[in-house]
Amino acid sequence: MQVAVEETMACGIGVCMTCVIPVVGEDGITRMVRSCVDGPVFRGEQVRFDDVGSIPFDALGAPGWKGSSAARAAESARDIA
Ligand code: FES
Repeated sequence: MQVAVEETMACGIGVCMTCVIPVVGEDGITRMVRSCVDGPVFRGEQVRFDDVGSIPFDALGAPGWKGSSAARAAESARDIA
């Protein structure tokens, strides 16, 4: 099932980050994604609706985030590329 999210959007072009929502990727890692440019249509089961409006502690880049070793390796590889 797909959903179209309506989140507050200040710029609508991916700059201001007011529209971010927590979405679980195919790798199982939660990322804060911009609904204006990365959506607004997402797979419904990947949106963490209960955490919209906050940064889940286990989201990539959240304060204190440590993630699994596999997640850290995947992020390092992505940063290098
Ligand atoms: S509305 Fe500004 S980043 Fe999405």
